[in-house]
Amino acid sequence: MLPDLKFPDVKFPDLTSDDVFRLETKRLWLRWPRASDAAAIAAFAALPEVARMTAAIPHPYPAREADRFILQARAENAAGAALHLALSQKTGARPVIGLVTAVMTETGEAEIGYAVAPQAWGNGFATEAVKALVDAIFNLSAAPRIRANSRLGNLASQRVLEKAGFSHIDTGLDLLPARGGLHSCNRFCLERTDWRRSGLERRMPPMAQQSRSATETLAEAAAEALGE
Ligand SMILES: CC(C)(COP(=O)(O)OP(=O)(O)OC[C@H]1O[C@@H](n2cnc3c(N)ncnc32)[C@H](O)[C@@H]1OP(=O)(O)O)[C@@H](O)C(=O)NCCC(=O)NCCS
Repeated sequence: MLPDLKFPDVKFPDLTSDDVFRLETKRLWLRWPRASDAAAIAAFAALPEVARMTAAIPHPYPAREADRFILQARAENAAGAALHLALSQKTGARPVIGLVTAVMTETGEAEIGYAVAPQAWGNGFATEAVKALVDAIFNLSAAPRIRANSRLGNLASQRVLEKAGFSHIDTGLDLLPARGGLHSCNRFCLERTDWRRSGLERRMPPMAQQSRSATETLAEAAAEALGE
């Protein structure tokens, strides 16, 4: 079932709503999660050291939870309400080693979350993926800022955000549904203007052009053909 979009105008573009969409970084593919990823996702999502730092991963991890997550992630991606991407290394057997997520809020801001399998920690994978996600959000949507929060004491996550250019805003109680209520979190933010100004801005590959409206592209092609 597709999610009920409360604010249907605040969405990711058509480009990300098709499961051929993917992002490439130096070492990773970021692509839609698929049914065959369930075992690899469950293998790290079920670990307490991963789940307890997140807002959404339940612990204990129910049987079939990865299947449910994948179905929901694909439905939200297709509806343009979110961008859930699985991380796999470009070389080797390429099992999923992590997840990144961006959700559009009703105010048109994006909120991100991420997790990496412990055996892959400390290699810069989360930072590489978050930077690519940030670029996709700012290049492909009109979001003025991206928000993220991190449980107090989650120093690895805070470091990922700092390396991706985020600034610490404040500390407060935030709802972490899978942790059963409000928990102290550090809140971070990256403004589009800072991303652009500070040289963090990275252009998307040419496929991003596809996000422009077909009408606009056709009109340009017609004008070009007429020599205008
Ligand atoms: C947070 C997480 C995604 C980081 O993944 P990762 O691939 O190891 O991240 P990176 O390698 O890109 O960067 C980690 C940084 O944190 C640092 N770090 C790790 N543990 C640390 C600690 N205990 N104290 C201080 N810094 C720490 C690393 O040294 C590295 O910084 P550096 O490059 O300056 O040395 C991973 O630990 C994880 O999945 N944790 C559980 C889920 C989670 O916390 N998700 C985020 C929810 S907000």
